Amino acid sequence: MAADRIDGKAFAEGLRTRVGGWASDFEGAAGRKAGLAVVLVGEDPASQVYVRSKGKAVAAANMNGFEHHLPADTSQEDLLALVERLNADDAVDGILVQLPLPDHLDDQAVIAAIDPDKDVDGFHVANAGRLAVGQTGFVPCTPLGCMMLLADRLGDLSGLEAVVIGRSNIVGKPMAQLLLDANATVTIAHSRTKDLPSVVRRADIVVAAVGRAEMIKADWLKPGATVIDVGINRLPPADGEERGRLVGDVDYGPASEIASAITPVPGGVGPMTIAVLLRNTLVAAYAHAG
Ligand code: GUN
Repeated sequence: MAADRIDGKAFAEGLRTRVGGWASDFEGAAGRKAGLAVVLVGEDPASQVYVRSKGKAVAAANMNGFEHHLPADTSQEDLLALVERLNADDAVDGILVQLPLPDHLDDQAVIAAIDPDKDVDGFHVANAGRLAVGQTGFVPCTPLGCMMLLADRLGDLSGLEAVVIGRSNIVGKPMAQLLLDANATVTIAHSRTKDLPSVVRRADIVVAAVGRAEMIKADWLKPGATVIDVGINRLPPADGEERGRLVGDVDYGPASEIASAITPVPGGVGPMTIAVLLRNTLVAAYAHAG
């Protein structure tokens, strides 16, 4: 039987509507709108697309967006000075510096300069540490969005076997922490894992975040598994196509014959990221105004 399609797009739209309502309540109570500053350095086309869609989503959710576009040759010093100004700006509740930065800039130093209480991306080591020890803090948007989809689908995750494929700081590691907090039994697999198919085959929950098109095959899955595909990969254009298709890290068609539920690409995890960013910004706004 074909798996249920986990409709992240619809879930994200619902979350955005709810956040928009809370943002209006916030404005009524605080006498100002919640504000998110987004910093983009350089002209990377994919980053420009992301930043534009964040700007639209922020405005649609009754929040202020402050976009700062800096030239590609911006110095580390000037970027850090901007982050300091945003840290001190009371109209700014959340700060997001779009990654990747141009090569001459130090991502980690820039993230470290953001006030952890405005770090709505959850990338600062203070927030990574809070997550690791179970304290309240900002959690990276993509894994938190994945958890919302899993909780909606499965309810209690206690005792379930979860395999996270990928160990990045922004998806794999925080995802594993969140699953552990939810009492799942968690394995993090990665490029050096031996016999990945047999590791994946024991999972009730598979979270794929490797960034390799259709790498995870249907016959690796345990029948009935719930599959969350974080990958967004563009295939080379087929004959007659101008651009290749977007696909995930999971071989969706065959996998959906084995899984019980699976997120599509596009329309699964992707839309959740911005919706959770809006949610995190509002949480930051209430904390600042409080
Ligand atoms: N680049 C791609 N995704 C993200 C994200 O969620 N946050 C930031 N800051 N940069 C990104």
